[in-house]
Amino acid sequence: MTFEYIDIEDPVFRANCQERNEEDYVLVRCNDYASVPINIPNWTPKPVCLSRRFERVAQTIKQMEVRPDDVWIVTYPKSGTTWAQELIWLVCNEFDFQKAQDIPLDARFPFIELSGLRDLPETINPLQDALQMPSPRFIKSHLPPAFLPNALWSVQPKMVYVRRNPKSVAVSYYHHSVSLHCYNGTLDQFIRSMMNELVYYSPFHQHLIEYSELRYPNMLSLCYEDMKRDLPGTIERVCRFYNKPFTGEQVTRLADHLSFDRMRQNASVNRSEWVEFNLKQTNRADKLHDNNMRFIRQGQTDGWRKELSEELIEAMDRWTLERVPPSSKYARLFQ
Ligand code: A3P
Repeated sequence: MTFEYIDIEDPVFRANCQERNEEDYVLVRCNDYASVPINIPNWTPKPVCLSRRFERVAQTIKQMEVRPDDVWIVTYPKSGTTWAQELIWLVCNEFDFQKAQDIPLDARFPFIELSGLRDLPETINPLQDALQMPSPRFIKSHLPPAFLPNALWSVQPKMVYVRRNPKSVAVSYYHHSVSLHCYNGTLDQFIRSMMNELVYYSPFHQHLIEYSELRYPNMLSLCYEDMKRDLPGTIERVCRFYNKPFTGEQVTRLADHLSFDRMRQNASVNRSEWVEFNLKQTNRADKLHDNNMRFIRQGQTDGWRKELSEELIEAMDRWTLERVPPSSKYARLFQ
């Protein structure tokens, strides 16, 4: 059996899932991982927190055709995926700002497993869109390596991985879960679930570690904090990675286009329609102007300092220390 779906026994989850309106999580184990080129001795991928809906896309993704000129981005959710997608798409499309404006990012750069997470209107099928897209295709996923197509590891098209500080990811993920998944628990409860590895795509640390250990020369690793510190420098790195020529003027214009304020106003990338639809559907139209409900929300590297209690900060630090001791070569991934 390629995929096994395992019910969650965790008593805290079971006792609270209804009240908190948690997703109908299950753990999914992938048993077909022999083709993944990874430098972790005796690697057995851990089960991942997903839902039974994942069955709708699991095999199709695993067996999908991969093309040498595909452009892949993979991240753990809330790590700056959208920001990096817009950057990559523009670099790979001769800085065609007009087309980027005219076609929503989700159509230009489909999120392949989305219908495995939530029920979508019948007309929306990002996986089919990706399968049928003319080359070069732009493909987004949050899946860990074992769940990606087997052909990826032999074809090895260029792939970008983006990581972000765990505390920023956790806070951003909480707000995303409230606005788009109707999560009903508190920030504290959400983060404790994340530390318990019971939110979509957990375990978090494993995700970053596995991608850092892939033997995949065609991979560029970015991090959200570097993008914040030096966006023009990141744009130049991405141009070099894709062998795309660039001028200083193009880099400046793209950096301006990708600034937080511009992205926030840009209807092609800010998913405001999606958020609005969701809030109205769930009788929360009064939240339409709440900044935390926006997809492009705060865009900071240390916003968590204001949102997390001392106790939660300590708990999160302990969580990382338990999974990744400071002496470990992986510690740098979680700073
Ligand atoms: P916050 O919720 O902390 O603001 P993803 O696209 O992976 O879901 O990540 C979303 C996070 O990236 C959100 O973080 C969002 O605000 C941030 N983001 C999106 N565009 C950005 C930009 N241009 N500059 C800085 N942060 C951005």
